[in-house]
Amino acid sequence: MKITVVGTGYVGLVTGTCFAETGNDVTCVDIDVNKVSKLSAGQITIYEPGLEKLFERNLKEERLHFTTNLAEGIQDAQVIFLALPTPPGEDGSADLSYILKVADQLGVLLKDYKVIVDKSTVPVGTADKVHAAIAKNAKVEFDVVSNPEFLREGVAVEDFMKPDRVVIGTSSERARKVMGDLYAPFVRQGNPIIYMDEKSAELTKYAANSFLATKISFMNEIAILCEKLGADVDMVRRGIGSDDRIGKRFLFPGIGYGGSCFPKDVQALVKSSQEVQYAFRILDAVMDVNEKQKLFLLPKISNYYKGNLKGKHFALWGLAFKPNTDDIREAPALYIIDALVKEGATVSVFDPEAMPNVKGVIGEKVTYADNQYTALENADALIIATEWSVFRTPDFDKITSSLKEKVVFDGRNLFDVPRMQELGFFYESVGRKP
Ligand code: UGA
Repeated sequence: MKITVVGTGYVGLVTGTCFAETGNDVTCVDIDVNKVSKLSAGQITIYEPGLEKLFERNLKEERLHFTTNLAEGIQDAQVIFLALPTPPGEDGSADLSYILKVADQLGVLLKDYKVIVDKSTVPVGTADKVHAAIAKNAKVEFDVVSNPEFLREGVAVEDFMKPDRVVIGTSSERARKVMGDLYAPFVRQGNPIIYMDEKSAELTKYAANSFLATKISFMNEIAILCEKLGADVDMVRRGIGSDDRIGKRFLFPGIGYGGSCFPKDVQALVKSSQEVQYAFRILDAVMDVNEKQKLFLLPKISNYYKGNLKGKHFALWGLAFKPNTDDIREAPALYIIDALVKEGATVSVFDPEAMPNVKGVIGEKVTYADNQYTALENADALIIATEWSVFRTPDFDKITSSLKEKVVFDGRNLFDVPRMQELGFFYESVGRKP
């Protein structure tokens, strides 16, 4: 099938590359000339494990093309995916201007039947708006489908290739058939394509992310309670997670969720609810708990140093909002750094991928170490903010010899508490007995 993906951001590039990998002829369109020339020259613009190999192969085999010209890009396509940004506006609602602008242009450009697919996370009712924007100028038949993506950064290729489910929102039989054919190779293991109306598909995406964020904030509150009551959150997590109705996944407490999706989507669903005069109270609490959780380690650090962090020097491992990505949007590490520096401390950081991005945002506010161990030199304590695998089994001798004192504040529960005690560390984590 010939398909076009408009927008070569994270979702667009993964979508385009993975569809090319199943034999489709894919053209990706972007207004960013610089990005398009890089991508055409074989230079990948995002960090995502496994993507580069697929990208290079499909580019070489000429199943993947890049252009800045929308008219040219959509010419022969049967399906046009819109993978454009929907940043939160000042009031928290999603800004649809990028999508609607392209929809306007598409109306003029369409010459035969095409399926236009909203891939971006968009508020309920957007498919109707996109339809109306195209219909203003269109002289041919077309359908607008909502097909939300459920990719996780860091495992996006795997999530795309082997999705738990594919949600397709359309009331058109013709579009349903086209989308079903396109996704058939991805659901061969028996995972379902779930067909529904456009609005339900749009809401499904927000409901999924908001539910997962709720699970995390819930566990973060359970962790706080565990500390206060003398219970252990690891035990409670295992105890509840083995109930299928609850599930084992996404029950890990920590220093809050970040990234470009959960914070934005929870906020957008709250906003959408307000617009229909409904107060989504659980989600207000989810956001509130998460804001506080980002600074969960601070009182522990402050207590240890009796309220005085002036002149203290900290090593901080992990800057990305989660492992296997260089994404630092809403990353708890940045909030921790800010709070420590405000208290008069200095910080030396290390992250396997995210340091250039952090440098771009906070510059020389911290020092950037070459590796996880040099970050520890002369530090009073180690703080862990992201659970990269390389941090899970460190050389404790090196940690001991570099730190001034054996003190670790772990926001991701990487180490076993008894083991740390055996090694003689003062070790604080989240929701476990110190
Ligand atoms: C999330 C969803 O998981 C995807 O299904 C969705 O497609 C994506 O948003 C999106 O809307 O584009 P992502 O933001 O890449 O994906 O990251 P996750 O792996 O879901 O992690 C989100 C945050 O939750 C991270 O900050 C992580 O540290 C935190 N988390 C996750 C916990 O604190 N505890 C857990 O048990 C799991």
